Amino acid sequence: MSAEFRIRESDSEDTEAIKSIYPRAFPDEDLVPLVQDLLENPDMTLSLVATVSGHIAGHVVFTKCAVNGIDANVALLAPLAVDPSRQKQGIGGALVRAGLQQLQVAGVSEVCVLGDPSYYGRFGFTSQTLIEPPYPLPPEWRSAWQSTDLGGASNEIVGALSVPPVWRKPELWAP
Ligand SMILES: CC(C)(COP(=O)(O)OP(=O)(O)OC[C@H]1O[C@@H](n2cnc3c(N)ncnc32)[C@H](O)[C@@H]1OP(=O)(O)O)[C@@H](O)C(=O)NCCC(=O)NCCS
Repeated sequence: MSAEFRIRESDSEDTEAIKSIYPRAFPDEDLVPLVQDLLENPDMTLSLVATVSGHIAGHVVFTKCAVNGIDANVALLAPLAVDPSRQKQGIGGALVRAGLQQLQVAGVSEVCVLGDPSYYGRFGFTSQTLIEPPYPLPPEWRSAWQSTDLGGASNEIVGALSVPPVWRKPELWAP
């Protein structure tokens, strides 16, 4: 069953409601500090929420990154969470697609993600080997490192992904 939902950029009044989704969507991980840090840096992020009847049901963040030595705009998608009571209603997909569309208009050429290929593949993400993640991934995670090409890059994007300090924590990139 599909929900009637709306996608919009988040604002500071959404912070508590956004943070409340994460422990329920990720019961085995504490992503709240990361989410808090990302929400405190709106100049380098695109943060979108999905609302159902005015209540926040899903959230995604895209962070502006760079690839060392390459003149191209690159972003990182993470985290993405939908309230368990609202999952499988198209909300996660709508958040991802809305973000990709907004980033493409803003001139971003490539969006990377570390996630399940069977989910992100439906949005055009494929295995990424030319852009290196900021920390080496264990072999079993290599196929989870993906990207989607939004077009507009004048050169091939090859090199190490340079992430802002909020993402420079090895534990965020390890099992
Ligand atoms: C992953 C998540 C964001 C998807 O949100 P959603 O609103 O349920 O997604 P949609 O309704 O757009 O899509 C649902 C489809 O995705 C599939 N799906 C959900 N999670 C998946 C996963 N981890 N791997 C593969 N497929 C997945 C569902 O089975 C469903 O498939 P169907 O369309 O064939 O029925 C949500 O399930 C969630 O918050 N999960 C917990 C946190 C998480 O894993 N976040 C992603 C981190 S990479």
